[in-house]
Amino acid sequence: MPLAPSADVKDAGVRVALVTGATGAIGKAIAQQIAGQPATEVVLACRNEEKAAKAVREIIEATGNCRVRCELVDVSRKASVDSLAARWRGPLHVLVNNAAVTPRRRQETPEGIESQFATNVLGYFWMIQAFTEHLKRSAPSRVVNVASYWAGDLDLADLEFMRRRYDNNEAYRQSKQADRMLTAAFAERLKSYNISVNACHPGDVSSALSNSLGFGGHHTPDEGASTPVWLAVEPVGQRQTGRYFEQMREVRCPFAADRKSVIGLYEACLRF
Ligand SMILES: NC(=O)c1ccc[n+]([C@@H]2O[C@H](COP(=O)([O-])OP(=O)(O)OC[C@H]3O[C@@H](n4cnc5c(N)ncnc54)[C@H](OP(=O)(O)O)[C@@H]3O)[C@@H](O)[C@H]2O)c1
Repeated sequence: MPLAPSADVKDAGVRVALVTGATGAIGKAIAQQIAGQPATEVVLACRNEEKAAKAVREIIEATGNCRVRCELVDVSRKASVDSLAARWRGPLHVLVNNAAVTPRRRQETPEGIESQFATNVLGYFWMIQAFTEHLKRSAPSRVVNVASYWAGDLDLADLEFMRRRYDNNEAYRQSKQADRMLTAAFAERLKSYNISVNACHPGDVSSALSNSLGFGGHHTPDEGASTPVWLAVEPVGQRQTGRYFEQMREVRCPFAADRKSVIGLYEACLRF
């Protein structure tokens, strides 16, 4: 069944935001803070129906905004992402890529792709690709990629840890470097359509993801959500593109500046 936007979305000039991984610590706080903005509809893109329905109920109760709903998607599977985009009806002004995993043991998706690469990297890539036409139609529109300062050691020749021994921390750092590189790649490609693409570090928050890496977190989920939400709703997130931010400040990103590797990664992602 096509996804129907709330009946009044178009007429009332309501802005529509889609947040992946909105059942998690930071994703739910992002969705809730965006839902707290006036004239905004928020769609929670989640893989677990029960958790998603609960998050929708809690956000509606906390914000009083009834324009909050969920859609099921497994971002680690291209067919699932494409199916969501094909069913989508109505505008899309903001896409927040946030869903990520950090399994301690190497896992693969049913398609045989290492799961951190599939979720944290290809998930972002496929969501932007699949929703580009929707974002174009709603332009000016924007993409916010939730990345991390905890990033590095990307090996373009071993994106799925086939040659190296899998370590969830190394695979995670690689994936978050990739998110920052893909931000630069898509920003360049989408600029002429008035679609901005920016990346940020959210904050250090205790969550399933950070705990699996052996970390806690000294920020609350709301604090962690503040920079992604700032990019999603404030003019800076439209005016700037291809940038990386921490604590609402732009930080130079060496990964995005490595043009050859950025192109190499983009082309590698196209092959999946
Ligand atoms: N926590 C930190 O300190 C920290 C620091 C820097 C950056 N970040 C970034 O912040 C983002 C959110 O992290 P978090 O700490 O909030 O993690 P989290 O609480 O573990 O939440 C992760 C979310 O992603 C969802 N998800 C995982 N795989 C999915 C898939 N295949 N399809 C759809 N949804 C999927 C999870 O769904 P389920 O609920 O079904 O598992 C959950 O909603 C990540 O991009 C992470 O890299 C976090």
